[in-house]
Formats: sequence, structure tokens, C-alpha cells
Amino acid sequence: MSATSSYLEIVSKTERYAALEAGLRAMLDGERDPVLIMSTVACELHHAFDYFDWTGFYRVVRPQLLAVGPYQGGHGCLYIPFDRGVCGACARTGETQWVRDVHQRNDHIACSSTTMSEIVVPIVRQPGSQLVAVLDIDSDQADIFDDDDIDGLTKIAALVGQLWEGSESTP
Ligand code: SME
Repeated sequence: MSATSSYLEIVSKTERYAALEAGLRAMLDGERDPVLIMSTVACELHHAFDYFDWTGFYRVVRPQLLAVGPYQGGHGCLYIPFDRGVCGACARTGETQWVRDVHQRNDHIACSSTTMSEIVVPIVRQPGSQLVAVLDIDSDQADIFDDDDIDGLTKIAALVGQLWEGSESTP
């Protein structure tokens, strides 16, 4: 099933996230390739919300180092050490970063000068296990994200972690 265009028609954000998650679960059932999984999630997510301007993943490729993964949007920085950026803060702390105004956040790395707000969610293969990646969403609109985005994106990050858990690949 490819429902990319129809998600935008669902007015309720919680219902849209629920439909997106269900669609991804159905589409990716039995899939074990992390690149396939991340590419598909980035594409479906990016086209489901018109205020998402950069939607994608940074993967842990070495201790304390993230490298860009599948994404949609403009150019993304190639590498982000754990001690830099909002993505690095997420990777370092294992905690979701909700940045209402990136200009108020000293450690924000501006891959695009138009970014105004951002959410970064950690991805683990099992609860409590080592981080494998982060899901990063940037918006050109100020303070656009709300609790529904945090909740929906947290569920989608958990799904990516579960699917990745079934794969042989290590970060
Ligand atoms: N803003 C992120 C960098 C990644 S990009 O925006 C795609 C950060 O501060 O970590």
C-alpha cells in the first residue's frame, strides 16, 4: 500500500499519525533491511505533513559519531559528533529533543538557514538498548510542533527500532 498522498487529507493529526504508522507497519512487515526501512519511513513521513522540510535519519556509525542516513529535503550535514548539534544531544542523552526555536538553541547546527523548529527522537532496537540512530525532523515554521508530533514520531521511531531489531545489521 502506498498512501503517501492520502495522509494529508486526514485532518486530525493523531489520526494521521495512526494511519501512517499502520500503513508503515503493513508496508514494512517482514522487511529487515535498515536502508529500505529508513528510506520508506523518511519518504512517507515527509509527504504526510506539509510543515516537514527535512525528514530523515542520522545513524551511529562509530562510537560517538552520527552519519547522515536516508532523508528527504535539502542537503543534510554528513557527520554529527555526539557532542555537537541537537542530533548529537539526542544521541548523547538518549532523550527526545523538542526545539521550538532553533535560534534560541546554542548547539543547533543549521544545515539550512530557513529551519525554525526541530524535533529529534532517539531510535533503539529494544527498550534500554544502545542507540542505533536518531529521527530528525526540521521545519521552516516557528514553534510548529506539538505533543501530537512528539507522540506520533516517538511511535514511528519505536517501529523503526523494532524492525531494525529483526535485522542482522549493526549500526
Ligand atoms: N539541526 C541538526 C543538524 C541536522 S540537519 O538540520 C539536517 C542539529 O543541530 O543536530
